[in-house]
Amino acid sequence: MSGNEVYSPSTEFSSQAHVGSMEAYQELYRRAEADPEGFWAQQAESEVHWFEKWSHVYEWHPPFVKWFVGAKTNAAYNCLDRHLETRGDKPAIIFEGEPGDQKTLTYRELHAAVGQFSNVLKSRGFQAGDRAIVYMPMIPEAIVAMLACARLGIIHSVVFGGFSAEALKARILDLDASLVLTADGGWRRGKEVKLKGAVDEAVKDCPGIKDVLVYRRTGGECPMNEGRDHWWHDLLPGVSPDCPAEELDSEHPLFVLYTSGTTGKPKGILHTTGGYLTYVASTMKWVFDLKENDIYWCTADIGWVTGHSYIVYGPLACGATCLVYEGAPDFPAWDRWWDIVERHKATILYTSPTAIRALIKQGDEYPNKHDLSSLRLLGSVGEPINPAAWDWYYRVIGKSRSPIVDTWWQTETGGILIAPMPGAVPLKPGSGTLPMPGVLTDVVDFYGEKVAPGAEGFLIIRRPWPSMIRTIWGDPERFEQQYFSRMPGIYFTGDAARRDEDGYFWVLGRVDDVMNVSGHRLSTMEVESALVRHPAVAEAAVVGKPHEITGQAVCCFVSLKQGNWDHGVLGKELRQWVAHEIGAFARPEEIRFAESLPKTRSGKIMRRLLREIVTSNTVTGDVTTLEDLGVVTRLSAQHDED
Ligand code: WT7
Repeated sequence: MSGNEVYSPSTEFSSQAHVGSMEAYQELYRRAEADPEGFWAQQAESEVHWFEKWSHVYEWHPPFVKWFVGAKTNAAYNCLDRHLETRGDKPAIIFEGEPGDQKTLTYRELHAAVGQFSNVLKSRGFQAGDRAIVYMPMIPEAIVAMLACARLGIIHSVVFGGFSAEALKARILDLDASLVLTADGGWRRGKEVKLKGAVDEAVKDCPGIKDVLVYRRTGGECPMNEGRDHWWHDLLPGVSPDCPAEELDSEHPLFVLYTSGTTGKPKGILHTTGGYLTYVASTMKWVFDLKENDIYWCTADIGWVTGHSYIVYGPLACGATCLVYEGAPDFPAWDRWWDIVERHKATILYTSPTAIRALIKQGDEYPNKHDLSSLRLLGSVGEPINPAAWDWYYRVIGKSRSPIVDTWWQTETGGILIAPMPGAVPLKPGSGTLPMPGVLTDVVDFYGEKVAPGAEGFLIIRRPWPSMIRTIWGDPERFEQQYFSRMPGIYFTGDAARRDEDGYFWVLGRVDDVMNVSGHRLSTMEVESALVRHPAVAEAAVVGKPHEITGQAVCCFVSLKQGNWDHGVLGKELRQWVAHEIGAFARPEEIRFAESLPKTRSGKIMRRLLREIVTSNTVTGDVTTLEDLGVVTRLSAQHDED
C-alpha cells in the first residue's frame, strides 16, 4: 500500500445507501450551508418526535447557542415510546456478558424496564434538573439507568468504570449530584472488577448524595450502607412500568460528560436534548447508513461520548438493534469479538484504531476462524487510523468489501463531524474525508486565515451545529476561553489538520497538552497534579510517547524531594499511585527520574524537548533558553541505562 489509494464506493453499496452519490452528498452540503434553518428544521421533523414545535430553529449569541428554541421533546420517548407501534418486538439491545450470559431486550421490554426504573427514581423524590452519576459496567441496566434519567429530565453523568474513587468524587462534587447508580461490579478477563467500593470511598466525602442504587451483576461481596444504599432488585417489585415521559424543553440538559482539558481539572461538557438528538440520529443514517435490519455493534464503553451518541441515543433514536458486550476482547480468547460478530450476524462494526492494532498483533488466525460475511460497514474513531491498521481492518475483517468510515469528532461536538457518507464519498485511508452537512470545517493559521491546500493548521468550525457543547458545567468563562477566545464566534477544536487538493481533511492530532491514550483523552497536567500529590515528588512533567498499540503512552519525568529513594521501588509505586488517583487507563508506561526538569529562563517546563527525548531520544531545535543543558543530556542518557 503506497498510502495514496482511493477507494470509491461499490455500485452494490451505493445503490442501497441513504446517500448514494457524491452529487447527492454535495447537494445536502450545499443546502445546509445556504439555509441552515430550513435544513435542520427538516432533519428535526424527520428524525425526532416533538411534543411541541419550536418558535425558531436556532439562536446564536456566541459562544452560546440554542437549538429548536421553545420546542418540547424527550430523549427517552424518542428512543423508546415512538417505536412501540412499529418496532415493539424488535430487539433494541442484544446483550452478551463476558461469562457468556445473554439477554435480549425488545423495544417493548426496554421501554417497560425504563418506565419502571423511572418510577422508582420518581418515588424516591428525584426530578428534572437533579444530577445522577452512572458508574456501571457495560450491561443493559446502564442504558436503562441513562434512559430513566432522560425520561424524567434528571441530568446524567456517566463515569467510566475504569475511573478511580478520586475521579468519581471530583465529578460528584463538581456536579453537586444527589444520586449514584452503580453495580456491585462487572466482569473483565474472567475477574470481577468491583465498583461499589470506589463509590463508598468517593461518597463518604459527598454529603449531597441521598441515594446509592446498586444493581447486582456479579453477586460478589458488596457491603451496603444502611439507609443510603439500596439494591436495585429490592426497589422494583410492584412498581408500574408506566411512567409518562416529561415534556422537556429542547435545551433541557441531557447529560454532562467529563473530559480532560489542558489543566488538571476535567471539564464537564454539557449536552442538551433536541439539537443533540436531531444530530446523532441524522449522522447514524448518513455515516453508518443505518437500515431497519442492521445489527449494529459499537465496541465503546458508555462511559465515553462514543457510547452516549452511538450506542445509546443515536441508534435507539433510529430504532436500531444494538449489540452490547460487557467484557474484554481477549476473553476467553482473542477471537471473542469475531465470535460475537459471527453468532449475532453483526452488519456494522464501530471500533477504535487502538483496538484494531491490539487485534492485529494476535494474528489473522483469530478472525479467519469465523464467518464475518454479515459485516457490511466498518467504522473507526478516537485517533487517526494508521495505514497498516486501516489495511488490515479493510482486508482481514471487511474482506475488501466493506467501506471503512473514519469518524472525526470530540466529546464537545456531541456527534460525528467529519466522516465519509459511505455510499457517496470515496475513501482515502487515514482521512476522515469530508464534513457532515451544516458543519463548516476549515483549516486556518494562527491569525485565523485559511491556509493553502496541503498546509497544516488549526481545525476550526465556523458555525454552530445542533449537537455542539452548550457550556462547561459551572464554568461558562472557561467554555468561552477554551473554545471561542482565539477566533470569536468560531469553534476551536484543539486539533491540527490539513486539507488536501480534493478538500479532504487529515486530522494530525492535538495542538495542546492533551495526550491520546487508546483513543481516550488525558491531560498531561492531570497526571502531573496526581504525581506531585505523592509525598516523594518535587516536580513532574508528563508527555505522550508514541506507542505501538495505544497510540500514545504516558511518560513521566519526575524530580524527587530530598531523601534516599530506591528508583525501582518508587517507579512502581508512582505508576500505581497515578492509577489510583485517576484510573487504571492512566497508569504511566514509564517513569524517569531527574535531578531537575529542563526549564526556560522564565521557568516554564520545556515539554517540547521532553517530547523529543521520548520520541527520538535525541534533542534538536533551539535549546538556548534552557536553564541547564546538562539536565537534558542526563535525561536522554538515562533511557539507555534502563
Ligand atoms: C479527540 C477527541 C470522538 C469520540 C472519541 C474521542 C481525536 C477522535 C479521531 C479521528 C483523528 C481523532 C482528536 C479529537 N480523534 N477521532 N477519527 N481521527 N483524530 O473523543 O476523548 O473527546 O477526543 O480525539 O484529537 O480532538 P474525545
